[in-house]
Amino acid sequence: MNPEISPCGENHNKQFIELGCYIDALKIDPKSPRRKDTLIMTLHRAQQIFGFLPEEVQVYIARKYNVSHADVSGVISFYNFFTTTPKGKTQISVCMGTACYVNGAENVLNEFERILGIRAGEVTDDGKFSIDSLRCVGACGLAPVVTINQRVFGKVKAGEVRDIIEQFLIEENVNVTVAANA
Ligand code: FES
Repeated sequence: MNPEISPCGENHNKQFIELGCYIDALKIDPKSPRRKDTLIMTLHRAQQIFGFLPEEVQVYIARKYNVSHADVSGVISFYNFFTTTPKGKTQISVCMGTACYVNGAENVLNEFERILGIRAGEVTDDGKFSIDSLRCVGACGLAPVVTINQRVFGKVKAGEVRDIIEQFLIEENVNVTVAANA
């Protein structure tokens, strides 16, 4: 990503243009002490556009808001729905909160890792899958809980992991097959 000057005042990179136009439409007064009120909204939008929040994006947002990079990265690290590392097209998150952990979440996580050949926090080489572990997602009655993109799977057993992946891919029409020998 290499920002250059653009119609929305910042650069020609398509993603940066989209983000720049979004921020410009908010009409932020760079001198107003309330300018940070919309920062979380902007970070959500940036994460939708880029898929994650790399340093270049954080610096860009900081400049647009007339705040320090540390201000922006502080907000990002406070909320666990923001991520500074790239994710796969299919994002698998296994809750490792207490209720999920005592109901076997670790085995479920291990099975996702074994089948996809990556560890939590990693992305497959083709960029199609990533796995993360999360703190409590607020659905403890369904423990152990897995989310795949926006969908929630409850009471997941390790033996169901392959079926969940395949069912998800079929329903979402994602053109990926899980290796038969995994
Ligand atoms: S501990 Fe997993 S949803 Fe609460």
